[in-house]
Amino acid sequence: MTNRGIGRVERDSMFPIPSASDLRRKRLRTQEAPTVDTMLGNIDLPDRLYFKFANLIYGAAGISLGDARRGLLRSRLSRRIRTLGLQSFDEYWSIVSRQDVLGDEFVEMLDAVSTNQTEFFREEQHFRFIGDTVLPALSIHGRTNRTRQLRFWSAGCSSGQEPYTLAMVVRESLPAGAAWQVRILATDISTRMLRIAREGVYEEGNIMAVPRRLRQRYMDREKRPRGDSYRIRADLKRMIAFRRLNLMEEEFPFSDEFDVILCRNVMIYFDRPTRERVVNRLYEHLVPGGYLFIGRRESLNSLESPFRLVQPSIYVRP
Ligand SMILES: C[S@@+](CC[C@H](N)C(=O)[O-])C[C@H]1O[C@@H](n2cnc3c(N)ncnc32)[C@H](O)[C@@H]1O
Repeated sequence: MTNRGIGRVERDSMFPIPSASDLRRKRLRTQEAPTVDTMLGNIDLPDRLYFKFANLIYGAAGISLGDARRGLLRSRLSRRIRTLGLQSFDEYWSIVSRQDVLGDEFVEMLDAVSTNQTEFFREEQHFRFIGDTVLPALSIHGRTNRTRQLRFWSAGCSSGQEPYTLAMVVRESLPAGAAWQVRILATDISTRMLRIAREGVYEEGNIMAVPRRLRQRYMDREKRPRGDSYRIRADLKRMIAFRRLNLMEEEFPFSDEFDVILCRNVMIYFDRPTRERVVNRLYEHLVPGGYLFIGRRESLNSLESPFRLVQPSIYVRP
């Protein structure tokens, strides 16, 4: 058959020659349908690598990803891999697996998989309890033993709303004029969250739960092109020391004892043995009679620890 003939070949019912549009239709039908993952630009994460990442993260930060958070790890780290100009999870693994928990990329990876959600006056009943019950009791104790020192620890402080709320409540509740020395230690594993916390600037949408009276006393409003923001005043900030701390560390790098520890909505992602270890270590850093607050959805019920329950999510060291 000559080339000239091809254009004129009749479409024959036994050996049909597909037209261009037939071919297009067929290609569309047979092409692998794009999955949601491909459409989102997520990079392939084979099983063997997923479990390596999950083990690495568990060993370093106690965060137990399980199979349920695989999609989260894949989508968040895919973004990170593209930002770094890498092609695959294998390449990314060869970077993070060589770093320790303080390594820059390791920190980025932990940030990508941890949940940092928080807000001012979150679980407000805790702050009411601190203002109405804990502080009056501590201030009587502090006056009688003449220390006039109060020490708080916000462990897992995220972007700072928790320790700033605590600072406002303490300032509002302590007897006027009393010369109390109040220190709040605020720690988190995430350097990104600590940066935001130290800066102490929040958009209007974030401070809705802060009563107007407290906003006026402790925050400065700043005009911004895209809506106002609120800056925590220096005198409130001075009450707080922000530090990076991994709750998984064998020993915490201080010997301080605290009157109150808030470790709320942090251990929720730890497995049971890790929670038990952390809770008992927190216990050692509380004074007798000191309080531990955990998240309202958390409980120490299934853990071996000497804490005594005061009311759901509030415990005391006997
Ligand atoms: C959901 S936020 C809770 C913030 C605040 N406590 C609250 O209740 O609003 C959990 C925080 O725990 C931190 N976190 C997770 N694992 C940690 C670890 N091993 N050591 C210290 N902080 C950790 C995360 O970075 C995150 O900022």
